[in-house]
Amino acid sequence: MSTPALLELCNVARDYPVGPTPLFGRRATLRALDGIDLKVPAGSIFGVVGESGSGKSTLARIVMALDRPTAGNVLFDGDDLFLLPPAALAARRRDFQMVFQDPYGSLDPRSRIGRTVAEPLHVVPDALRGAERAALVGEALESVGLKAADAARFPHEFSGGQRQRIAIARALITRPKLVVADEAVSALDLSVQAQVLNLLRSLRDRHGITVLFITHNLAVIDCVADHVAVMYRGRVVETGPAQAVFARPFHPYTQLLIAAEPSLERIGRGLRRTPSAPPSAQIEGGGCAFLARCPLASGRCAAEAPALRALEPGRASACHHAEALTEGASSLHFPT
Ligand SMILES: Nc1ncnc2c1ncn2[C@@H]1O[C@H](COP(=O)(O)OP(=O)(O)OP(=O)(O)O)[C@@H](O)[C@H]1O
Ligand SMILES: [Mg+2]
Repeated sequence: MSTPALLELCNVARDYPVGPTPLFGRRATLRALDGIDLKVPAGSIFGVVGESGSGKSTLARIVMALDRPTAGNVLFDGDDLFLLPPAALAARRRDFQMVFQDPYGSLDPRSRIGRTVAEPLHVVPDALRGAERAALVGEALESVGLKAADAARFPHEFSGGQRQRIAIARALITRPKLVVADEAVSALDLSVQAQVLNLLRSLRDRHGITVLFITHNLAVIDCVADHVAVMYRGRVVETGPAQAVFARPFHPYTQLLIAAEPSLERIGRGLRRTPSAPPSAQIEGGGCAFLARCPLASGRCAAEAPALRALEPGRASACHHAEALTEGASSLHFPT
């Protein structure tokens, strides 16, 4: 990746307290993120994929500075977000915006669209006058393929796909550098998913916006992303250019995901959701988190957690046996 990184996560961890508070000692913690290192190149669509509970939304909340990491640093456009004084962080917020999963729940049914779309402008320091606000709202609505006049309408007058466009317009109104989309198309019909993905791509092409695109659906990542990070139980297990990773995965878990999603050219068929391991598995330290499901597992994997390591330019895998995959080992056989 020669393009400079807009967003960089360095060794980010997030622990959540779980279970009852004991009379003596400390509450157990669940490590939702563990040693995350990521570089998101400016102007890219960067996909994050992983099964339910792998830590994707936790990552999104930390990137949006809605939650603090337990350890590590988040560098956004040169600033360490969690070292900024509160006023400086507040001023930075206009540069990163989020699009949520549910286009129904995320729009206030009683507010006109114009008011909803203008809502993030409260982080912009200079109070904008009515006409300036209306012009920005109109511009944002037009940039997602709606009309400026739609500002006067209410959410129930729009389809699911149009509502997600409205949610994207709201994210764009502060002219952010980064948009974080957490499962932004998962609730939409297949054809509408394709339209919203095309819209994100065209926004990137027209305005150079960087998109952190989070989903459990590998096919969606394959359609939209330039780069991908594959997460498993709070860790990044593989990262690289999306096409290269899908053509020749360097981690057994990525292979498993691809095997579970046979028709990558079709959007919308979610990963077969394998049941997540109980949280206690994430509490324990030790070896590789993928050990129990891995056909390549060895004694070393039980003893030592593999670090994410570079294997080819721009590509990294957290597997002790990744060389077996880079050398073109045939498809692995996973226990059913
Ligand atoms: N506030 C919290 N308190 C305690 N545990 C939490 C909290 N938020 C998340 N977790 C736990 O952290 C882990 C990661 O959760 P997260 O929501 O980030 O996963 P996800 O990959 O987004 O899953 P999904 O695909 O279902 O949205 C899960 O085990 C979850 O139960
Ligand atoms: Mg989530």
